[in-house]
Amino acid sequence: MIAPLPPEALVLQTDRLRLRPWTMQDSDFAHEILTDARVMKYVKGEPMTTDAVAAHLSDAERRGAGGRIGIWCAEIRATGERIGDGVLTPIPIEGDDVDWSQVVPDRYPTDQIEVGYLLKPAAWGQGYATEICKRLLRFGFEMTELSQIVACTDPDNLASQHVLRKSGLRDCGTARAYSETVAWFEITRAEWAAQAAQAPHQLPSGSPG
Ligand SMILES: CC(C)(COP(=O)(O)OP(=O)(O)OC[C@H]1O[C@@H](n2cnc3c(N)ncnc32)[C@H](O)[C@@H]1OP(=O)(O)O)[C@@H](O)C(=O)NCCC(=O)NCCS
Repeated sequence: MIAPLPPEALVLQTDRLRLRPWTMQDSDFAHEILTDARVMKYVKGEPMTTDAVAAHLSDAERRGAGGRIGIWCAEIRATGERIGDGVLTPIPIEGDDVDWSQVVPDRYPTDQIEVGYLLKPAAWGQGYATEICKRLLRFGFEMTELSQIVACTDPDNLASQHVLRKSGLRDCGTARAYSETVAWFEITRAEWAAQAAQAPHQLPSGSPG
C-alpha cells in the first residue's frame, strides 16, 4: 500500500512556474497544444485529431502511486497562464502510448518512469522546459521510491536533448521506446543526489503551493 500524498504536496513551484496535477478543466488546453503540428512534430510526428485528444482526456488526469505518477499542468505563477505540461509516466518500449492501466493509486508502474514536457510555441526558448524537468526530477527523487528516471526524444529533437542534458540526465545514445528508435537519457537517484549536493543553490524551489 502506498500512502497517498495530500493534494497540496502535488503542487510544485519553480522560480517562475507552478506545476499542478492535470485536470478535466484543462481539456481546452489539451486540445490547443496536442492538435498543434509545431508542438507534435517530434512527439507523435503529426498533430493529434480532436477525437484522439478527447479519448486521451480521462487518462491525462490519472494518477499513480499515491498521486506521484501522472501529468502536471505548467502555469506561469505571476499570471496563471497555462504554458504546457510535465510528466512522470511509465514509458512504453513497444507500443505507441503510455500503458495507462499501470497508473493506479496503490502501486508504482512496472515500466520505467520517464520525465517529459511539452510547451505551447509562445513559451519556447525561455528556459521553461528545463525548469519543469528539473522540478520533476527533484519531486521524483524526493517524493517517490524510484531509483532511476529515464527520458527519450526523437533523435532530431535537439532542443529537447539539450534540455535533458541541462537538467543533469546522462546521454545514453539510442534505444527503443514508443516502438521507435529514440535518443535515450537516464539519471539515477545517486547521480541526482550528487548533483544536488554539488549545486544546492540550483535546486528548484521545493515549497508546495
Ligand atoms: C523542446 C521544448 C520542450 C523546449 O522547450 P524550451 O522551454 O524552449 O526549452 P529551454 O528553453 O529550457 O531549453 C532549450 C535549449 O535548447 C536550445 N535549442 C533550441 N533549439 C535548438 C536546436 N534546434 N538545436 C540545439 N539546441 C537548441 C536552446 O538554445 C536552449 O538551450 P540554452 O538554454 O543553452 O540556450 C519545446 O520546444 C517544446 O515543447 N516542443 C514541442 C514538444 C516537444 O518536442 N517536447 C519534448 C518531447 S521529448
